[in-house]
Amino acid sequence: MSSENKVRRVVSNQTEIFSDLEKKVLRYLKTTYQRPYASHTIKAFNQAQDFIRTFEKPVVLDSGCGCGESTLVLAAKYPDHPVIGIDKSQIRLTKAQKNSQPKNVFYIQAELIDFWRLALEAELNVFFHALYYPNPWPKESQAGRRFHGHPIFPTLLQLCPNMELRTNWKIYAEEFLEASRIGFQYLQMKWTPLLEEWVPSVPETAFERKYFENGQTLFRVRIVRD
Ligand SMILES: C[S@@+](CC[C@H](N)C(=O)[O-])C[C@H]1O[C@@H](n2cnc3c(N)ncnc32)[C@H](O)[C@@H]1O
Repeated sequence: MSSENKVRRVVSNQTEIFSDLEKKVLRYLKTTYQRPYASHTIKAFNQAQDFIRTFEKPVVLDSGCGCGESTLVLAAKYPDHPVIGIDKSQIRLTKAQKNSQPKNVFYIQAELIDFWRLALEAELNVFFHALYYPNPWPKESQAGRRFHGHPIFPTLLQLCPNMELRTNWKIYAEEFLEASRIGFQYLQMKWTPLLEEWVPSVPETAFERKYFENGQTLFRVRIVRD
């Protein structure tokens, strides 16, 4: 089997941004998402808070950190900040915890949809938010599972003034950017958008390495609020 076959590019029935993106984003901005919090995420959030309080500088979040490589990269880049790697998969986190762990890293098993709401409610000061290679949910019928097509999106937009999303699917990046434009316009928040091709000098995550070595084009969206 060729490496091209081993690491599949995103295959989708979409050729452009999904049609009711604006309607969905506005609907979720006008309503409150009320899904009850999972108890394991409340516990994990409290543990993360205890860890964060031992630092003077604000927290860096690595959401969907998988095996945690990017969490280590972020910890080296921001050595005085607490860096929380969050993933729902205990198997991936176990691999992360096997790596030697800098003092400013804390991994938690949690549901992002709940963690982000708890963090916003607690007015957690988030310095930088990494969202590297979220699941694309590539069928158009799955668009509501993408972070920008989900009721969690208003929370995500408000959680951190400095966010970076990476993906190997350009349409995901374009949708995320457009959803952000709609959201910030509604919220009357000023921001600076950027969507560009991303060529890592050294891959920073397990998925980034797979895609990069497979010759796929990578994209990143930077959202910086004024
Ligand atoms: C495609 S992987 C990317 C992992 C890592 N960022 C990388 O680039 O190697 C997506 C990760 O997000 C996690 N994830 C997806 N949805 C999540 C959710 N709602 N809450 C917590 N983790 C989630 C998955 O368990 C998985 O590890």
